[in-house]
Amino acid sequence: AQKFTVKSFQEAKDNNRKISMLTAYDYSMAKIVDAAGIDSVLVGDSLGMVFQGNESTLPVTLDEIIYHTKAVVRGVKNALVVADMPFLSYHVSKEEAVRNAGRMIKEGGAEAVKMEGGTLFSETIKAVVDAQIPVMGHIGLTPQSVNAFGGFKVQGKDEQSAKRIWEDAKLLEEAGVFAITLECIPDKLAQLITKSLRIPTIGIGAGKSCDGQVLVINDMLGMFSDFVPRFIKQYAKLNTEITAAVQDYIAEVREGDFPAGEHTFDMDADILEKLY
Ligand code: KIV
Ligand code: NA
Repeated sequence: AQKFTVKSFQEAKDNNRKISMLTAYDYSMAKIVDAAGIDSVLVGDSLGMVFQGNESTLPVTLDEIIYHTKAVVRGVKNALVVADMPFLSYHVSKEEAVRNAGRMIKEGGAEAVKMEGGTLFSETIKAVVDAQIPVMGHIGLTPQSVNAFGGFKVQGKDEQSAKRIWEDAKLLEEAGVFAITLECIPDKLAQLITKSLRIPTIGIGAGKSCDGQVLVINDMLGMFSDFVPRFIKQYAKLNTEITAAVQDYIAEVREGDFPAGEHTFDMDADILEKLY
C-alpha cells in the first residue's frame, strides 16, 4: 500500500474512488486498522465518550488528544493521521488556534487536524491553514456544540438550518480545508454539498453520496453500547466476544485449568532442591 496524504484525498474524489476513515485511540488498534488498508485514521475527540466515559466530547483536553495521537501515530504506516482539535483549543483566538494546532502536529505527530464549525470559525480555520497545517472541516451535527444545540440532533432538516450548513460548506472550502466531515444531516443535503464542492466530503450519518465515510471504531466493532444511533452499522459484535472470552478466563482460573503446561516455565530439579 502507498502512503495516503491530503493530496490522495483530492485524487480520490477526482477519480470517483470512495475514501474510508475510522477512529483509533491507541497503538494496537491503529496498527490493525492501518494494516487492514484504511485510508485515514482519526484520533477523534469521541475518545472523551468511548475511551474516557464522559457524556460528551467537551471535557477532552489538548494534552489528552496529543497523548492518544502519539500512540496512534506509532501504529500507522500508510493512513493519513488526522487528530481532532478539542473544545476550547481554537475558540478563544486565532493565535491560540494556530499554536494548539501546531502542538498536535509537532508533539502529537498528526499530519492534519480536524476543527468543528463553519461560518463561525472559518477565519480561525484559515489562520491554521495559512500556518501550513492541513485542516479537515466538520459541520452538521458538531458534537462540541451539544449544549448550544440542546442535545445530539440531526441538523439541516429545516430550510434555515440547511441553508446555514450549505453556507458553512462553501466558506470552509474557501478557507482552504482539504476535506469536510458532514455529520448527521439528510442525505439529499449531503449530496448537494458533495456535488457542488471541489474538495471531498466524508460522511457520518449523511448518506451514501459523500466522497467517503467515517465511523467511530468502538461503534462499528460493537464494543460501545451506551447508545447506538441509527447511522451506525456494527460490523462485528466484539462486546459479545469479549464477554465470552472473559467468562472463559474466569472459569478456567477458578477451575485451575489456566495456566496449563504450555504457559508455564520449568526449572532444573537440582536447583530447586538447593532452595529447600
Ligand atoms: O470524534 C470523532 O470520532 C469524530 C467523527 C465521528 C467524525 O469527529
Ligand atoms: Na470529533
